[in-house]
Amino acid sequence: MLRTDTKRPDVQWSQEKYPSGWGSEFIDSTEMVKHLSPQFLKELDDCMSACKAAGKTIESVVKDDFSSPSIVETMSSILEDIRRGAGLLVARGVDAEKYTPQELEIMYMGLGLHFGNAVSQSSYGDLLGHVAVRDKTSARGYTSDRQLDLHTDSAEIICLMCIRRSTSGGESVFASSLKIRDIIAVERPDLLKVLEAGYPYHRRGEEPPDAEPVTPYRIPVFSTTNGLVSCRYVREIIEVAYRDLGKPLEGTEKEALDYFDEVANRPEVAFDYQLQTGDMAWMNNYQILHARRSFVNPDDLSNGRLLYRLWLQDFPSRPMCKEMLVYQNPQGRQGIDPQEDRPVGLAKYSTKNH
Ligand SMILES: [Fe+2]
Repeated sequence: MLRTDTKRPDVQWSQEKYPSGWGSEFIDSTEMVKHLSPQFLKELDDCMSACKAAGKTIESVVKDDFSSPSIVETMSSILEDIRRGAGLLVARGVDAEKYTPQELEIMYMGLGLHFGNAVSQSSYGDLLGHVAVRDKTSARGYTSDRQLDLHTDSAEIICLMCIRRSTSGGESVFASSLKIRDIIAVERPDLLKVLEAGYPYHRRGEEPPDAEPVTPYRIPVFSTTNGLVSCRYVREIIEVAYRDLGKPLEGTEKEALDYFDEVANRPEVAFDYQLQTGDMAWMNNYQILHARRSFVNPDDLSNGRLLYRLWLQDFPSRPMCKEMLVYQNPQGRQGIDPQEDRPVGLAKYSTKNH
């Protein structure tokens, strides 16, 4: 499950460049989109051809399969931006229609391995998730078409690659959690303390059979470790945890979440962004919130919206407190370890479907 076959650049995590994050004006920043060079794209094509000739699969591809000079230089530069810069970057230029879906998976995994090992995204053990409509009632947003509120995922670097767009809608939404924290610190420092104390999270039935269904500890919305601010936030899972614990979510605990949502959705904080086919949106997950607008697919679902998703973790991993992890996977793995007979996304774990 955990791949340790590669060495990666030693790029330290830092928030010195954007200590207060950025607001929605970031959409116009030259740092938002990185246009991949013709040389990068040629080398990508060559690497893909070599992978085909060697019979590589998504399981057998390694970082060295996509490590020609321009690719190494470009991926190092993106890693610098993700770990030490704005934490969000859309890499543009891959012609997704030139390759088969299987080739795109291999290519995408090969690039992702420059940033970390792919960790499992659900109890099914998917190392490369397909964000596509499979079950409209699912508690896991990546298999439904509903609107997803601003949230974080479960690994230090995440990426979404757009393979096919929907007929309409489906815009991504991005916001800097550092910006949100700064606003709350100024306007409601009392509620910042509540957010830092954190909330229990539901594990939605994807935990090992002997583990608690709800975290026996609180997960801070904001925490600081070695000078790095981290944000972990999925409101729906907090609400399901309170519901199943039989505890009302009320008082300042509810007020703090409402305030967080209100700040996060301010027009000067979050912005909508429509990914183009072939785009790869790389994110410093614990520094960036993301969301998705609802969307309409064509009648033929096999042509419907499809994004590939990676959850990546390097070793040593990003500095953060251990309570950030919802699933106490062995050996400190992020993500959700695979579990036999533990179905993904049962509707009873969503508050949106009932
Ligand atoms: Fe997500």
